[in-house]
Amino acid sequence: MKHDVSITIDGKTVALPVLEATAGLDVIDVRGLISEGLFTFDPGFLSTASCESKITYIDGDAGVLTYRGYPIEALASGAEHLEVCYLLLHGELPTQAELAQFKSDINERMPIDAQFAKIFDGFTATAHPMSMLCAGVGGLAALFHEGLDIYNADHRMESAMQLIAKVPTLAAMSYRKSIGREFVDPDPSLGYAENFLNMCFGESGKPSSVSPTLASALDRIFILHADHEQNASTSTVRLAGSTECNPYAAIAAGIAALWGPSHGGANEAVLDMLNEIGDVAVVNDYVAKAKDKDDPFKLMGFGHRVYKNFDPRALVMQESCHAVLAEQGVEDEPLLKIATTLEKMAREEPYFIERKLYPNIDFYSGITLKAMGIPTPMYTALFALGRTPGWISHWSEMLSVPFKIGRPRQLYTGPTQRDFVPISDR
Ligand code: CMC
Repeated sequence: MKHDVSITIDGKTVALPVLEATAGLDVIDVRGLISEGLFTFDPGFLSTASCESKITYIDGDAGVLTYRGYPIEALASGAEHLEVCYLLLHGELPTQAELAQFKSDINERMPIDAQFAKIFDGFTATAHPMSMLCAGVGGLAALFHEGLDIYNADHRMESAMQLIAKVPTLAAMSYRKSIGREFVDPDPSLGYAENFLNMCFGESGKPSSVSPTLASALDRIFILHADHEQNASTSTVRLAGSTECNPYAAIAAGIAALWGPSHGGANEAVLDMLNEIGDVAVVNDYVAKAKDKDDPFKLMGFGHRVYKNFDPRALVMQESCHAVLAEQGVEDEPLLKIATTLEKMAREEPYFIERKLYPNIDFYSGITLKAMGIPTPMYTALFALGRTPGWISHWSEMLSVPFKIGRPRQLYTGPTQRDFVPISDR
C-alpha cells in the first residue's frame, strides 16, 4: 500500500486505505466509512470504482485503451475478433491451435434451435431489432438454466461461448424478421463477421457473396467494441449478475442498458441526426442548437465520459470508415458530406474544444455501417454483438472471486416521518 488518506468526522480522524492500481488512478477504499455513520455521494459514479478488474484499461486523458494489456490499435490491426474474444475470456492470446479449437467451438454453438426460433413469431416486422435481441438473449436462459452452476468456471466458459456464438445468429434473425424474410442458417465454413453478414443479407442454401473488405471492416468494428471497462451496460451486467441470476438474463439486462442514445444507441442516433440535418447548408444551425443551453439537442457521436482528449477507437474507426467509403464508392453521398462538414465545424468550435468534445467511435461507426449498407436500426444490435465478449468476461471475472450483491445507497431528501391521514379525513 502506497499511502493512506484520512478524513476528520466530528473531530475523529478516520484513516482510509488507498488501493494501488497497476496503471491509472489509485482508489480510496471507503468501505470503512459506513461504520462511522456516513455514505459517500457520487451520482453517475463519476468518482467511484465499483469493482477491481484485470480486463480492460482506459486512460481517458492520454487516449489509451488496452485489453488485457494489449493496445487496441495493435489488436485492431493484427488480430481477428474471435482471437480478441479468447483474449478477453482467458486473459492470454490464443496459440494457433487454441484459436482453431475456439473457432470450432463457436461455430458448433451458432445454430438456434427451431423451436426456440418461434420466439420471433411473437414480434411484428416493425419491432426494433434491439427489442428482439434483448428478448432472444434473455430467452436463452430458458434453454440453459437447469444444472448451470455459475460458480463453476467450466460452466461460465460454456455460457460465454454460447453467447458469443448465438448473439450474431439472434441479431441476424432480428434483422430478417424486420424485413419479413426467412432466416439464413449460420455457415461453419465462414469467418465470424462474414457469417453474420451472410445470415443478414445472404440467401438460404446459396454460397456467401459477402465482400471480404466489408467482412474485415465489420470484424474490426467488433474488436473496437469488444470491451470498455465499467461502462453503463457492463456495470448493469455486473449488477444484475451480482444477484446470482442466470447469465443470459444478465446479458439481456446489459443489452437493454446499451440501447439508450447516450450509450450504444448513439450510433443509430448519429444517423437519425444526420438525416434530420438533411443539408450541408444547415449544419451550422445544428451546431448552434448543440451549444444552446436552453435546447436539449446534443451532437450525437460527440463527447465521452472517459475520453477527454480523443477516443482511440474513433481514430482506428476513422481509418476503416474511409476504406469502406472508398470500397463502396460513396464518398460523395450527401449524408456523409453532412457528417464530414459537421465533424470539421465541431472540431473548430471553441464550445467543443473547451469541453473536450471530440467525435467518438459511434460517430464513425454509424457512418461506416451506413456506407456498408447496414440498416440504421441494426447499428446498436451490432454494438451489442461486439460487446458480448466484454460483458461475459466481466460477469465471469466477478463470479471467480468473492463478491457482494450490488446495492448502492442514497442521500434521502424526502419528507421525514409523518402521521398517516385516513382517506375519509383527506
Ligand atoms: N453535444 C453538445 N454538448 C455536449 C455534448 C454533445 N454531444 N456532450 C456533452 N456536452 C456538453 C454538456 O452539455 C456539458 O456542458 P456544460 O459544461 O456547459 O454543462 C459538457 O459538455 C460536459 O458534458 P457532460 O454531460 O457532463 O458529460 P458526460 O461525461 O456526463 O456525458 C456523454 C458523456 C457521452 C453521455 C455525452 O457527451 C453525450 O451525451 N454525447 C452524445 C451521445 C453519444 O455520442 N454517446 C456515445 C458515447 S461513446 C459510446 C459508448 O461508450 O457508449
